[in-house]
Amino acid sequence: MEKFIISGGNPLKGEVSLGGAKNVALKICVASLLTDEELVLHNVPHISDVEAMLEVLKSLGVTVTLQGSSVRIKRGPIIHISVPLELGARLRTSSMVIGPLLARFGKATIPNPGGCRIGARPIDRHIEGLRRMGAAIEYVSTDGFFHASSTGLHGITYTFGKNTHTGTETLILAAVLAEGKTVLKNSAEEVEIDDLIGCLVKMGARIKRTALREITIEGVSRLRGTEYAIMPDRNEEVTFAVGAMVTGGEIVVVNSQQRHLSSFFDALDRAGGGYEKLSDTKTRYFKPQYLLATNIQTARHPGFMTDWQAPWAVLMTQATGESTIHETVFESRFSYVSELKKMGAEIDFFDPEVGDPASFYNFNWADRVEGYHQGIRIHGVTKLHNAILTMDDLRAGATLVISALAASGQSYLQGVEQIDRGYEKIEVRLTVLGAHIQRIKEEI
Ligand code: EPU
Repeated sequence: MEKFIISGGNPLKGEVSLGGAKNVALKICVASLLTDEELVLHNVPHISDVEAMLEVLKSLGVTVTLQGSSVRIKRGPIIHISVPLELGARLRTSSMVIGPLLARFGKATIPNPGGCRIGARPIDRHIEGLRRMGAAIEYVSTDGFFHASSTGLHGITYTFGKNTHTGTETLILAAVLAEGKTVLKNSAEEVEIDDLIGCLVKMGARIKRTALREITIEGVSRLRGTEYAIMPDRNEEVTFAVGAMVTGGEIVVVNSQQRHLSSFFDALDRAGGGYEKLSDTKTRYFKPQYLLATNIQTARHPGFMTDWQAPWAVLMTQATGESTIHETVFESRFSYVSELKKMGAEIDFFDPEVGDPASFYNFNWADRVEGYHQGIRIHGVTKLHNAILTMDDLRAGATLVISALAASGQSYLQGVEQIDRGYEKIEVRLTVLGAHIQRIKEEI
């Protein structure tokens, strides 16, 4: 176990470069199973989720060679079709190997996936689509595995009941080598999916976005190896941007993902947040004169991303008046609230009124745990102070780091393994910007 000791009160200043997007790197690693040839990936972030995914690949019989931020992945002579339970528990996306394994080897055994604790996170939408493509899939509760087999996947026209980012990717990864044409309707539009598609197309896949929320895949008989650079991580940009604003600093993101952050900029415009687009790839973020209380509602792309609501909540502690956040994608993504309250934030939960929750919310309403709330009210301005903090998930963790940087005094953050899942050496990069952070191994 490791913790951060953070001395707050120092503004973040300087230039920062975003690492490769976690939510692309993980899926492109899975895509390596679709070819016998070598896949060379660049801009791969050194984060523990990617390490875990590379372990999954190795457990299946794939050779992985790391060179700086590049990874060479090539399948060995033997391929196993079963993901070990322990690896599956570490990483939700390990379940995504099911599509390539079924398409190429007709069999796959995958554990019920783990990942961040931000709700039930079932994969029923993935499984339903794969079954429609001709896979027989059974979940055996006594061993915790999905057992899947197929004598050949075939193309389908499939309409997702609700948005699913990784579900869309799972079906793409299954359909690229399936017999015939697959049309995925009501498919997710998150830009990370398009980066995965970009890599698959370079490997020889035939995939196009054919209409709004529609993806068409013409199955091909084989894919080849290729070289591909992963897009920068827009979620990192939001974390750094808010960090600069709440610490009273000024940073420039040098590989800014402006075109993928429209809804974040819209929210900043409403709140009076400090940002300036210096060029297409450079954005300056700085402390504004004052911030206005602003209401946001998370949504599927192109709406305000669920991954951004935790840092946004910290920003709103510095805005004058009452702000609200309505989380609509996951049923339990406010774990950071109790920690922000320890730091002096004034936040309370509420239940936003919605017509028909079962169709309104992105998660499965019927499976929701009683007692969760989908809304918070933040009353600002509050001065944040030091506290001893713990974190339950990745975005909550990164949010507590920037909160502690903005707070007075010395804070202790336990469980930084959560942050290491998705941010490469966050303390080193923030230290370069003027933060005071120490990583300490905790005595057990
Ligand atoms: N859902 C189901 N059944 C399914 C699939 C999804 O009930 O079969 C529910 C989920 O539980 C959730 C909602 O539908 O409540 C949306 O889930 P989605 O599948 O879209 O999300 P995800 O694929 O699990 C990915 C990212 C998340 C990001 C969301 C939204 C990866 C590895 N994860 O999750 O990223 O927040 O899409 O864009 O790509 C993060 O990086 O910290 C993170 C959580």
